[in-house]
Amino acid sequence: MIPDVDNDSIVYLNGQYVRLGDAKISVLDRGFIFGDGIYDVVPAYQGKPFRMEGHLARLERSLTAIGIDTGMTRDNWRALVTDMIARSGLGDCMVYIQVTRGVARRDHAFPENAQPTIFCMVSPFTRPDATKREKGLSAVGIPDIRWLRCEVKSVSLLGNVLAKQQAVEAGVDDVLQFRDGFLSEGSSCNIWVVRNGVLLAPPRNNLILEGIRYGLIEELAAAANVPFEVRAISEAEVDTADELMLTSATKEILPITRYNARPVGKGVAGPVYAALRAGYDKVIAAL
Ligand SMILES: Cc1ncc(COP(=O)(O)O)c(C=O)c1O
Repeated sequence: MIPDVDNDSIVYLNGQYVRLGDAKISVLDRGFIFGDGIYDVVPAYQGKPFRMEGHLARLERSLTAIGIDTGMTRDNWRALVTDMIARSGLGDCMVYIQVTRGVARRDHAFPENAQPTIFCMVSPFTRPDATKREKGLSAVGIPDIRWLRCEVKSVSLLGNVLAKQQAVEAGVDDVLQFRDGFLSEGSSCNIWVVRNGVLLAPPRNNLILEGIRYGLIEELAAAANVPFEVRAISEAEVDTADELMLTSATKEILPITRYNARPVGKGVAGPVYAALRAGYDKVIAAL
């Protein structure tokens, strides 16, 4: 019995549908041995996948980046996601897909004949509550100690895990990571900065994971006539931002109203957040 999960929920593992509590992989799976794999998370509302094509395109990019060929087509992935949502019977949920290089004798080099391990599970997802949406979150700034291929959604998440634990130990909700004095991202989310009415986001490069919300927020900003600029953002600019916010599949968009123990702007959710949040809710309602 795994605590705090629905052990009876059905997961997909290498072509089989099994109870989560019964699903097993080999100790020699390279995901376990080396963190040699990738993942993605597709959110769904009322059983309908949200921005699925973007998530599947990123999954394919991650697989290509690390040289795993599953033989799965886009149609196969789409069918897996929709089928898993239907089997789960859940409304608001998230579909977790993980692929590793498979099971082989322990050796760093890629194995010749390993079959990739493909795993998929669906979990219920509770949308961020009114307190988080209205009062906002707290965060502290920390150095980004991760590797230089953050654009790959790798299961090697130790840097992100240690970053989130720093937030927990500091008694805040998340961290903002900085590399060489410039903003990268949160522990598992993208960060947005508002200065003088302009929405700023760090460049989409190898130093961040480009969230599927990146494109969405760009669209919502355009619709709300909020000027949007992608550029390097210094620590000093974050310190004196008018608004900070974060986005991810499960957190959607949330304001950060306390940063490094000081209020951000007026210390409440700001007007740019309010405009983007309203747009985000509208897109979900129209699904
Ligand atoms: C490191 C990191 N950055 C950004 C994101 C946000 O990506 P998305 O909006 O696709 O959830 C995530 C999501 O898990 C993440 O882990």
